[in-house]
Amino acid sequence: MPRRNNENEQPNCCRCCTGFLFSSGLTALLLWLTLKSSSPKYSIESFYVPVLNKNSTSVNSTTISFDLRLKNENRNKGIYYDALDLTFFYYFPENSSFSEIGNITIPEFYQGHLKTAHRVESIRSYGVSLKDVKMKAPNGSSTTMFRVDLDTEVRYKIMLSRTKRHRMRLGVNVTVNDEGAKSVDRGLRFSSAASHFNGLTTLVRNFLALLILYFGIISV
Ligand SMILES: *[C@@H]1O[C@H](CO)[C@@H](O)[C@H](O)[C@H]1NC(C)=O
Ligand SMILES: *[C@@H]1O[C@H](CO)[C@@H](O)[C@H](O)[C@H]1NC(C)=O
Ligand SMILES: *[C@@H]1O[C@H](CO)[C@@H](O)[C@H](O)[C@H]1NC(C)=O
Ligand SMILES: *[C@@H]1O[C@H](CO)[C@@H](O)[C@H](O)[C@H]1NC(C)=O
Ligand SMILES: *[C@@H]1O[C@H](CO)[C@@H](O)[C@H](O)[C@H]1NC(C)=O
Ligand SMILES: *[C@@H]1O[C@H](CO)[C@@H](O)[C@H](O)[C@H]1NC(C)=O
Repeated sequence: MPRRNNENEQPNCCRCCTGFLFSSGLTALLLWLTLKSSSPKYSIESFYVPVLNKNSTSVNSTTISFDLRLKNENRNKGIYYDALDLTFFYYFPENSSFSEIGNITIPEFYQGHLKTAHRVESIRSYGVSLKDVKMKAPNGSSTTMFRVDLDTEVRYKIMLSRTKRHRMRLGVNVTVNDEGAKSVDRGLRFSSAASHFNGLTTLVRNFLALLILYFGIISV
């Protein structure tokens, strides 16, 4: 009778042990894959409003052209971008309000890991007359400001699977000098306080999913 007990204990412990090793290995792999997930980085690399160039006299007064940069910083994940909506606003300093002046939709696309993409586009503005803006602008001081809002959803490709969609709503302020160009040389990064919240909830959800998985395997 005691011998049989011993025999029973041995394989039980072994199964428990391999189960533990297997699940902790899997947990580590999933943790590595999910925790290292970083959102794509968006920035405005160039921004040109021809009518605001003090040298130019006869230009298309409604055109705004820009270069949007999208970077996937993940080492092991591709990113599926849904159609990406960009909305442009003009800033009225006198009453601190933004007025919509343009929009464009960039078609969906896939981006491999560690890849950078550029979308160079131009739009026709509406609503606010940029010609009037130029007339009002005092010489020398370049305080014309625009805002660009971005709205899209992305899915990450992890090995052969795709994650669910993650909404991204970000914005950036772009100041333009008296030559009609972006007043700083560096790219301007889109940001949002809300995006940090999204990141955190994703983290918590992934952690809970891992816990459930872990105990699921342990109890088998
Ligand atoms: C505008 O004209 C001035 C001189 O008239 C010149 O120095 C400057 O480079 C010009 N800027 C652009 C953007 O053409
Ligand atoms: C400005 O460009 C748009 C196309 O981007 C064109 O439809 C429009 O006629 C142009 N306006 C002028 C005044 O050239
Ligand atoms: C702010 O002022 C501009 C003109 O100065 C006007 O067109 C715009 O409607 C104003 N916006 C608000 C929210 O009052
Ligand atoms: C986007 O811009 C077009 C003109 O280019 C305009 O007709 C349309 O209403 C705009 N869409 C939104 C959502 O503002
Ligand atoms: C701005 O500069 C132009 C010449 O470049 C001059 O004719 C005009 O009077 C100036 N305007 C102001 C408000 O200083
Ligand atoms: C953009 O400018 C407005 C007005 O100055 C400011 O309230 C807002 O916080 C700025 N946004 C960012 C992302 O800097």
